[in-house]
Amino acid sequence: MTPALTTPPLSLYVHLPWCVRKCPYCDFNSHEGRGALPFDAYVDALIADLEHDLPLVWGRTVHGVFFGGGTPSLFPPEFIDRFLQGASARLRFAPGAEITLETNPGTAEHGRFELYKAAGVNRLSFGIQSFDDGCLKRLGRIHDSLDADSAVKLAQDAGFDNLNLDLMYALPGQTLAMAETDLQRAFALDPAHISHYQLTLEPNTVFAARPPQDIPDEDGAWDIQEHCQALLAEHGYGQYEVSAYARPGRRCQHNLNYWRYGDYLGIGAGAHAKITLGAEQDILRRWKLKHPTQYLAAAGTPAAIGGDDRIAPQRRPFEYMLNVLRLVEGFSLDSFESCTGLSRQDIEPQLQAAYAHGWLERDGDRVRPTELGRRFTNDVVGLFLSQ
Ligand SMILES: C[S@@+](CC[C@H](N)C(=O)[O-])C[C@H]1O[C@@H](n2cnc3c(N)ncnc32)[C@H](O)[C@@H]1O
Ligand code: SF4
Repeated sequence: MTPALTTPPLSLYVHLPWCVRKCPYCDFNSHEGRGALPFDAYVDALIADLEHDLPLVWGRTVHGVFFGGGTPSLFPPEFIDRFLQGASARLRFAPGAEITLETNPGTAEHGRFELYKAAGVNRLSFGIQSFDDGCLKRLGRIHDSLDADSAVKLAQDAGFDNLNLDLMYALPGQTLAMAETDLQRAFALDPAHISHYQLTLEPNTVFAARPPQDIPDEDGAWDIQEHCQALLAEHGYGQYEVSAYARPGRRCQHNLNYWRYGDYLGIGAGAHAKITLGAEQDILRRWKLKHPTQYLAAAGTPAAIGGDDRIAPQRRPFEYMLNVLRLVEGFSLDSFESCTGLSRQDIEPQLQAAYAHGWLERDGDRVRPTELGRRFTNDVVGLFLSQ
């Protein structure tokens, strides 16, 4: 019998698309905000957008909210407050739901963090990137290392104890010792979570068009990654995903849900959603118009939808693996069945091939990537592409 597709946990992603300045390596949907930004109109648009999508999630509980960007901390706290009030009048939030706001240290102002906290935000994610002023300059960042230290301390003084610091490595001109110093500077601030991303040259960015000449090569980047992984573990940060490390009990619930092939509504310019439609036994992906001006004009109407895509059963194994194989914990065969509506028998040949390569290992109902499998994620996931 084919297993039923059941609705997994649901979270809410909210995209805030403006930044003070566009960084040369960044391909996120982020736009330099020139002049006064339309904060009020954008919050109205977000609420209208949410209202429009509500029928997709009637009766379901929301387990977390993630304000991503762009630079969400450009929005003064009263706008975050107004959005959260509007959202909680329309959705049922789980008690203690994680509410994260991405923050650029260059936008930290005294007194702001208390107000974000009062609005309901209980986790901040800081885009630190590096504590080396030379590296920060080459990355085109608007902050320096002292701004980074003081922004994190301001947040801690305001009572935030659930903080993430984003760091990037394999930066132009960066040595292994410099990458390790960045981590030591992060440890000194005692965050609950560290995201450690390898700099990638994304198409359509300034760095892709004119790549810096002194970026560490593949072996150099691998060396940094291995040493930094060990250093993170020594300091009590357990790796749970390719780039994510957390103290016990402090994994990012929103991202974890996403990697477990959970559901999320996507509100805001260019935001993506993935929703399981239990009654229709289908999975819907929906995305919104990318450009803030077009989005503002259309939000709350069908014209704001950039596209809808139904994920046919034969595409689901690949999509599922693309997410869950990023996780150190891998997945359970039960969860594969309930999240995809397919039977474990449907992927047995691919699983056997992956075990034979030494890429995956099985422990009862659980399937995990091995260390070798984590090095070759693309090859492992590729096994599950439908023919
Ligand atoms: C949307 S940004 C969030 C924070 C905020 N916008 C900032 O930059 O301060 C998310 C994170 O993705 C990472 N990131 C962005 N572009 C990247 C790239 N090309 N390679 C690796 N990591 C990248 C950065 O660490 C960044 O903090
Ligand atoms: S501040 Fe963050 S989102 Fe904005 S351009 Fe830089 S990396 Fe991208």
